[in-house]
Amino acid sequence: MANSNVKPATGKLGIMVVGLGAVSTTFMTGVLMTRKGLAKPVGSMTQYDKIRVGRGAEKKYLPYKDIAPIADLKDIVFAAWDVYPANAYESAINAEVLKEKDINPVKDELMAIKPLKAAFDKNYAKRLDGDNVKTCKDRWDMMEQVREDIRNFKKESGVDRVVVLWAASTEIYVAPNKDVHYKLADLEKAMKDNDTANIAPSMCYAYAALREGAPFIMGAPNTTVDIPAIWELCEEVKMPIAGKDFKTGQTLVKSGFAPIIGTRMLGLNGWFSTNILGNRDGLVLDEPANFRTKEVSKLSTLESILVADEQPDLYTDYYHKVRINYYPPRNDNKEGWDNIDIFGWMGYPMQIKINFLCRDSILAAPLCLDLCLLMDLAARAGRVGTQRFLSFFLKSPQHDYTQGEVPVNHLFQQYVMLKNAIREMGGYEADEEID
Ligand SMILES: NC(=O)c1ccc[n+]([C@@H]2O[C@H](COP(=O)([O-])OP(=O)(O)OC[C@H]3O[C@@H](n4cnc5c(N)ncnc54)[C@H](O)[C@@H]3O)[C@@H](O)[C@H]2O)c1
Repeated sequence: MANSNVKPATGKLGIMVVGLGAVSTTFMTGVLMTRKGLAKPVGSMTQYDKIRVGRGAEKKYLPYKDIAPIADLKDIVFAAWDVYPANAYESAINAEVLKEKDINPVKDELMAIKPLKAAFDKNYAKRLDGDNVKTCKDRWDMMEQVREDIRNFKKESGVDRVVVLWAASTEIYVAPNKDVHYKLADLEKAMKDNDTANIAPSMCYAYAALREGAPFIMGAPNTTVDIPAIWELCEEVKMPIAGKDFKTGQTLVKSGFAPIIGTRMLGLNGWFSTNILGNRDGLVLDEPANFRTKEVSKLSTLESILVADEQPDLYTDYYHKVRINYYPPRNDNKEGWDNIDIFGWMGYPMQIKINFLCRDSILAAPLCLDLCLLMDLAARAGRVGTQRFLSFFLKSPQHDYTQGEVPVNHLFQQYVMLKNAIREMGGYEADEEID
């Protein structure tokens, strides 16, 4: 780490999580259990992965923390907001993701994480009905109250830095609107005018975080920070953002599997993906307007991996469909099916079926940890705006659509971007090409 020009990770790192549901409590419990030596952070790149730095005789394989100054798990302090008043212990028990034996050893720490009142608007998630909600005059006031929460948390906990992570429910789809979301001044005016149709509560959290000098991560598919007005704010306050939508189950498989088809020059006629899911996330996504947000995010994956313009014989007009069905008996144990209709030599058809019996929050928790630690690192490295190197963790990576930029969805290209950024922040050469 001798060469790293990133500010050191001194003092405590505050992680303020929007939403204290299945994903957040699984994340928090795992970090606290790992800290006590009672669990292993399996799936976390920052805790396990080793990457090459240097070439030839100079080549070494090092864990990320030996390349760049990543915060230690023991320095993390959690806080959260939620619509429901249950503390992190009660919420972890309710979520039924982890067994009580894996929660109880950190019961006291979890009970101390009591959710702050949510910046919430029921129109954005009709299926939620909690009363731990802020009373707000307008969206500007909503944002100011979140800023105050962040300042209070800093003061009370003594943390040096804060990262804000959205792991709350998926909001209804807000399409980017040129009159509201393209310029910072327009966005601020809309917040002051209480334009509730265009300003989602998540935008108030993001705006507040950035103004308080905290990087913001969007773990759901919400539009929130995927708008030019927020990019402008990032430039003004010199803060990084990342989004959107954790890449956990089916989309992880898709972005890792599609390259098999594309690399072997096989053709694609169609890809049908369906899921059953029974947790609160599934309940919210059962509402068509909320599912629309998820659908937009999930559909974007294939198009940039199997590209018709590059191989018209193989990838023109394939049919891509994604469904999520709410099915309570499975709770957090999502089951995903993929049916892939491919074709080979002389156009002869074949099928591939993938059945992934996964655990949603078990897959999401390590992503929360990695995203928070790497965003804190990016902020200390002085990186500003959308952090494309974090696309590896995200289903629908943010990109500048106003300039026609195409996002990278290919898992292994995303991994190269991640490795290069870690190398760069460690003062090494970002020496790997994307082919
Ligand atoms: N688990 C995965 O694999 C995965 C993958 C990608 C994205 N996600 C996204 O992560 C998010 C969290 O998933 P989950 O399974 O923990 O859901 P969950 O329903 O268990 O938890 C979400 C919590 O957010 C709270 N909430 C909603 N709006 C809020 C607001 N405005 N302010 C504060 N709190 C608010 C809800 O009350 C709820 O407790 C969802 O948006 C989901 O789509 C999850």
